[in-house]
Amino acid sequence: MMKITRLALVGLLVAFVAAQFFRSPRNAGTAEGPSSVGAVHPVPAGVRQILARACYDCHSNATRYPWYAAVQPVGWGLNHHVTEGRRELNFSEFAAYDARRAVRKLRHVADEVSERKMPLKSYLLLHREARLTAADIALVSRWAEELADRLESR
Ligand code: HEC
Repeated sequence: MMKITRLALVGLLVAFVAAQFFRSPRNAGTAEGPSSVGAVHPVPAGVRQILARACYDCHSNATRYPWYAAVQPVGWGLNHHVTEGRRELNFSEFAAYDARRAVRKLRHVADEVSERKMPLKSYLLLHREARLTAADIALVSRWAEELADRLESR
């Protein structure tokens, strides 16, 4: 019995060490380049600052990685969020969205933020700086709704 337990522990340790050699590619581009939301739409400084601190890690081309992202399997889990988040909504590529998609995404931004579904709860546990106040939520959702209205009336 003891022997099996020891073998299992050694197996786990070997797997953990081996896992360190399999790193996910990093999302290390430019958040606010020529295709970003701010390049084609008005984004007031206050809104931009909130998006940068609370959303860009998963919804832009530039993630600020914490040290533990270098430890697998934590890094894999983190990469999964970044990949999925960017696929759903990427503020760095927002200029490429057609008007219908842009409007839909902006409405979702207002909804998700107002219902406190974004930023993700698990993320907020480790990123206190990303917590949104009621004023932050009001500012972001008003901006998103107003921009969506304007794009729709074009
Ligand atoms: C830790 C990563 C992370 C952060 C930070 C984050 N999101 Fe997300 N977001 C995701 C993931 C993953 C999804 C897709 C799965 C889901 O909906 O839960 C998503 C989905 C969304 C969607 C849905 C898109 C659609 O078309 O339905 C919106 C809108 C959104 N996020 C807005 C935001 C906003 C605004 C912020 C900042 C206030 C933010 N998110 C912060 C990871 C994140």
